[in-house]
Amino acid sequence: METLEAIRSRRSTRAFADRPVAKEALERILEAGRYAPSGGNSQTTHFLVVTRRETLEELAALVEREFAAMEVTPGMYRSMVNSIRASQKGGYVFHYHPAALIITANRVDYGNSMADCACALENMMLAANALDLGSCWINQLRWLNENPALLDYLRGLGLEEGERVFGAVAIGYAATENGLPAREPLPRTGNAVTWIE
Ligand SMILES: Cc1cc2nc3c(=O)[nH]c(=O)nc-3n(C[C@H](O)[C@H](O)[C@H](O)COP(=O)(O)O)c2cc1C
Repeated sequence: METLEAIRSRRSTRAFADRPVAKEALERILEAGRYAPSGGNSQTTHFLVVTRRETLEELAALVEREFAAMEVTPGMYRSMVNSIRASQKGGYVFHYHPAALIITANRVDYGNSMADCACALENMMLAANALDLGSCWINQLRWLNENPALLDYLRGLGLEEGERVFGAVAIGYAATENGLPAREPLPRTGNAVTWIE
């Protein structure tokens, strides 16, 4: 797929087919993430690629449990409120059951951690689209990135001391009739542009 077309037609997929994604495809997506730019060429983003079903289920249960124990406070970010309320109700699965959840971690003491992870995440979402796979940025692990239970669990998966989660992306075949992700762009009514000519 042509690059500009991949950018324009990328949409968030939130319902995935129960179908594995070939490792070669995931490797190509990871390559796109690893070839993202990084501040000072630091290349400190750490990609944790979760395809093991039990681990995805354990993560969903852990996230639901930790959100359910949280209180909604005034001014709280709307999506976080939604996660807390959905967890308290029960049956909340933050990652939408994807074939793979790629977690991007980076150094907690490095000022460009978020920027570097964001570049990698966008590259991976574009690569997924080019390969006819759906993707969605997943932020709940980032919100809980100082949560001791989550940190402990992620350390067991390979998160290093001194690293924190800055984002994640769910990847898989879309649960649509033709298996392709929906590609109709949402109109851009925000994202102002000011030309100084
Ligand atoms: C920083 C960031 C965090 C996001 N977090 C989530 C998330 O946790 N769960 C989710 O379903 N979508 C998440 N999204 C996806 C946005 O909701 C989505 O990009 C937006 O609604 C525009 O829709 P589109 O991606 O289909 O163009 C996130 C996107 C970004 C850039």
